Amino acid sequence: FYCWIHNQLELMMCLLCSLLHAENLLVLTVATKQTEGFRRFRRSAQFFNYKIQVLGLDEEWKGGDDKKPAGGGQKVRLLKSALKQHADKEDLIILFTESYDVLFASGPTELLKKFKQAKSKVVFSAENYIYPDRKLEAKYPPVRDGKRFLGSGGFIGYAPNLKKLVEEWKGKDDDSDQLFYTKIFLDPEKRVCVVKLFLCLDHRSRIFQNLNGALDEVVLKFENARVRARNLLYDTLPVIIHGNGPTKLQLNYLGNYIPQIWTFETGCTVCDEGLRSLTGIKALPMILIGIFIEQPTPFLSQFFLRLRNLHYPKQRIQIFIHNHVMDSFVNEHSKEYLAMKVIGPDDEMENAEARNLGMDLCRKDPDCDYYFSLDAEVVLKNTETLRILIEQNKSVIAPLVSRHEKLWSNFWGALSPDGYYARSEDYVDIVQRRRVGLWNVPYISSVYMVKGKVLRSELDEGDLFHGGKLDADMAFCHNVRNQGVFMYLTNRHQFGHILSLENYQTSHLHNDLWQIFSNPEDWREKYIHENYTAALKGKLVEMPCPDVYWFPIFTDTACDELVEEMEHYGKWSTGDNTDSRIQGGYENVPTIDIHMNQIGFEREWYKFLLDYIAPITEKLYPGYYTKVAFVVRYKPDEQPSLMPHHDASTFTINIALNRVGIDYEGGGCRFLRYNCSIRAPRKGWTLMHPGRLTHYHEGLPTTKGTRYIAVSFIDP
Ligand SMILES: *[C@@H]1O[C@H](CO)[C@@H](O)[C@H](O)[C@H]1NC(C)=O
Ligand SMILES: *[C@@H]1O[C@H](CO)[C@@H](O)[C@H](O)[C@H]1NC(C)=O
Ligand SMILES: *[C@@H]1O[C@H](CO)[C@@H](O)[C@H](O)[C@H]1NC(C)=O
Repeated sequence: FYCWIHNQLELMMCLLCSLLHAENLLVLTVATKQTEGFRRFRRSAQFFNYKIQVLGLDEEWKGGDDKKPAGGGQKVRLLKSALKQHADKEDLIILFTESYDVLFASGPTELLKKFKQAKSKVVFSAENYIYPDRKLEAKYPPVRDGKRFLGSGGFIGYAPNLKKLVEEWKGKDDDSDQLFYTKIFLDPEKRVCVVKLFLCLDHRSRIFQNLNGALDEVVLKFENARVRARNLLYDTLPVIIHGNGPTKLQLNYLGNYIPQIWTFETGCTVCDEGLRSLTGIKALPMILIGIFIEQPTPFLSQFFLRLRNLHYPKQRIQIFIHNHVMDSFVNEHSKEYLAMKVIGPDDEMENAEARNLGMDLCRKDPDCDYYFSLDAEVVLKNTETLRILIEQNKSVIAPLVSRHEKLWSNFWGALSPDGYYARSEDYVDIVQRRRVGLWNVPYISSVYMVKGKVLRSELDEGDLFHGGKLDADMAFCHNVRNQGVFMYLTNRHQFGHILSLENYQTSHLHNDLWQIFSNPEDWREKYIHENYTAALKGKLVEMPCPDVYWFPIFTDTACDELVEEMEHYGKWSTGDNTDSRIQGGYENVPTIDIHMNQIGFEREWYKFLLDYIAPITEKLYPGYYTKVAFVVRYKPDEQPSLMPHHDASTFTINIALNRVGIDYEGGGCRFLRYNCSIRAPRKGWTLMHPGRLTHYHEGLPTTKGTRYIAVSFIDP
C-alpha cells in the first residue's frame, strides 16, 4: 500500500512501517555547505523518517559551479569512499541524491516498493535532455515511452552494486559525474554483464522527477489536507523531486506545499524550523530600520506616526533614512532611538546606492541582528510586525502588503523566463489570504527583514542592489536568489497595505487632501473624525434646534489643512454684490469666501460629500446632491457676521473649522423662526439644516480672532 497520510492513525502506521523499512535504506548526499536548500532537504527527509548521511560537509567544493559545464566529480569521489564501509551489506539499499535542490515527496516504504518493482540492481533518474555530451545520443537505447537520458542527480541501488559502479572512478573533482555514469550505462557489457549492475533508468518518473524540461508534466494535486506532486504525462507520483538546472524556483514553489500537510486556512501544519518566541529574551535583538522615501509620497506624517508606534523598544532600534522629502520626525524624535542617520535630498544619492548603504550599516555592525527595509508607501498597520517577522526565524522575510482591494502586492509568486513578473497559480489566493502560511517566493519588495548574520555571510557582497539593467529591488532579489538564500513571504497575519503613488499631485500646500480618490482608506484615516462612524449609526447626532442636525465629520488635521490651504491661496472674495458668483445667483448674501473650485478641490469635495455626507443625509433628508461649496472667513474688522438670510439650497452643511474660545470669540448661528442659537460650534463638527424658508438664519458676530467655516449648499 502507499504510505500516504490522511489521518492520524495512518500517519502513525506510516511512521512505524517507515522505521521498519528504513532499516535497510540509507540516503547518501553530498553537501559541502548547509545551505537553505540543504536544510529544506533535511527537513523533508526527517519528515518521512529517512536515515541520511551527509558527505563532504564543510569540505571545500571543487566540483564546478553553475557557470561551468559538467563538473560534479567530487560527488563520485565522496560516494566511492563512503561506500567502502557498506560494501558487504548485501541487503542495504542506498539512495544517492543531490540535496540543495531536492525534496522528498513520500516515504521510504513507497520508495523501496518502487525500487523493487523496477527489478534492477541500480536505478538512475531519467531526463529529457542529454548532458553533457550530446554526441552520445545515438548510443542511447530507444525508449518507447518516457524520458531517455540518464540524470546523475539521483539514483538508488544495492550497496555492493553501487560500490562496483563507482569503483572505476579515477576522475578529478571537476570532471563530470554525469558523463562517468552515462558511459557505464551506455556500455552494454558493463551495464549488464561485467559488473552485473542491471542498471536501468526511471523513464517514467515513478521514483525520480527531474523538473528540467518537465515542468509541464508536474502538477500539485490537492485532496483535502493532502498534497502531492503528480506527473500527468505518465500518471505517476514521484518520490523524489529534483529542481535541476534552471528549475530551482519551481522547486521552491513545490516546496511551499510538500512535504507538509496542508490546510489552506492555517497553512502548513508541520512548518519549517519552528518559531522562536521572543518572550523571555531579555535584550531584544537590535534592528536597523532603513526607511526609503524615493518619491513624493502621501501621508508621510502618518507613516512616521506608525513607525513610532511600532511595538518594539526604540532603544533597540537604529534608523537610517533616505529621503527626498524632509519630515519633522527626524528633529523631534531622533533622540528616542538608539541611533539615527539621514541621507537627505542634498546628498544626491540614488536609490540603489542608498539601499546598499543602509544595508551595509547593519552588515558592518556586529551588534546589528536584523535589517528591516521599509519604503514610505507601505502602510504598516500591524504594530507587532517586527516581532512577528523575527519569530519566523528566516534569513529574508517580507510581510504581505497589497493595495487595498487590489491584486498589486509586494511579492511575485513566479518569474517569467526573462526574470520579470509572472503569476503563480497560487498568487491570488495568497494575496487574498485564502491560503495562509510562509511562502518561498522569487521576488519581494517594499518591506522586508534580513538577518544581520546572513548579511555578514551569504549576503556579504556589499552591492546587492545593482545588477545590469535591473531596478534596485529586482537586482536585490536576483542577487539573493543567486546566493541560494530563500526569500519568504508571510501572510499569516494582516500587516497593512501599500499606497498608490499614482496621481500624487505635489502642487498644493497639503497634497494629501487631494488623495481621496487614489488612497481613500488613508484619506479617511487622516481626515474623517474618529466618531463619524458612530454618527453614521445614528449615535452622536445631536439636534440643537428643530431640524438642525449636528455631528462630527472632520479631524482637527482636516480642519487645519483646509484653512491653511485657503489662506495659502489667499484670494478671498471682497464680499460685495459685484461678486460674479452672486450674479450667478447662488448666494443670497455675500460672504468673504474662497470656493472649492478656486483651489481645484471641487471634485474631491464632491467625492467627500458623496462618501461621507450622503450616507447620513440618506437617513435624514434622502436624495440630494451638492451645488456649491466654499470656505467662509469671519473677522471682526472684515466681515464679522452675516445678516439673516435663506440659503439658495434645499439643505446646507456648515462645518466649523476652528475652535471657539481659542482661535476666535463670538460666532455661531441663530435660526430666527425658532429663536434658537448654536453659540459654541465644535471644531470638525458639521451643522446640517434645511436652507429655505423654515430655516431663515443669521451668522452671529465674531468678536475676536478669525472664524472659518466650510459651507456646502445641497439640492435635490
Ligand atoms: C533558526 O534558524 C537557524 C537556521 O537558520 C537554526 O539553526 C536555529 O536553530 C533556529 N532557531 C530557532 C530558535 O528555531
Ligand atoms: C469620540 O467619542 C468618545 C465617546 O463619546 C469620546 O470620548 C472621544 O473623545 C471622541 N473623540 C473625539 C476625537 O472627539
Ligand atoms: C429668544 O430667546 C432669548 C433667550 O434665549 C430671549 O431672551 C429672547 O427674548 C427670545 N426672543 C424672542 C423673540 O422670543
